[in-house]
Amino acid sequence: MRQSLVMGNWKMNGSRSESQALAQAIVDGLNAGDQGIAVCVPFVYLSDVRGIIESTPVALGAQNVADQEKGAFTGEISAAMLKDCGCTYALVGHSERRTCYGDTDQSVAARFCQAQKQGIVPVLCIGETLEEREQDKTFAVIDEQLNAVIDMAGIEALANSVIAYEPVWAIGTGKTATDEQAQEVHKYIRGLIAEKNQDIADKIQILYGGSVKPDNAKALFAMPDIDGGLIGGASLDAESFLSIYRSV
Ligand code: 13P
Repeated sequence: MRQSLVMGNWKMNGSRSESQALAQAIVDGLNAGDQGIAVCVPFVYLSDVRGIIESTPVALGAQNVADQEKGAFTGEISAAMLKDCGCTYALVGHSERRTCYGDTDQSVAARFCQAQKQGIVPVLCIGETLEEREQDKTFAVIDEQLNAVIDMAGIEALANSVIAYEPVWAIGTGKTATDEQAQEVHKYIRGLIAEKNQDIADKIQILYGGSVKPDNAKALFAMPDIDGGLIGGASLDAESFLSIYRSV
């Protein structure tokens, strides 16, 4: 039985005080024994949020990590810095990074490796665009994005990672993949990993992301290969986020 994980991705939203209030409201809504919950916070608020969620079950995550270790890379944030700020997780390869900021399969794989070097669990985001889905290229895109990481990091590295399947056409659009559409791709991803290592495939958490809301979370999370979610918009409201968390 895999431990489920529900992770909020706050993206570029909120102020310092709003981030603190959101973190506090999430903590206040937890019950004894809760686990498998995390928030990916804007870099500049990581330390503030850390102060609130430290010694609670809520784990801290960053939304990106540099593909280099250190040095003259103005504006970048290294994995060591994230570790220093108390991060457990870092997203790598979010579609918004790939689309708007030119992250390539190669740089995503390098980010994945940098995170792991510092003991941070990379959350590898993969998924197809609408155009790719309509051209029946979904599985080819998944192959390419996943294999770039396996080629650079090795299959064993996936043991300490999380995968998030986020169909680009479902992100922030209100269009969710149906339970069956999501399950089909999750099963495919697990199968790809199983071809190389069955044990890792059985254990790896594969999250679904893309317009997960309190009213569709339960059905998605009931699918056998969906181990939780990566939640954007609905994670900005503690009540919605906790309701999604309770659906897993
Ligand atoms: P939405 O939940 O807003 O669609 O965002 C999903 C996402 O991109 C999470 O990383």
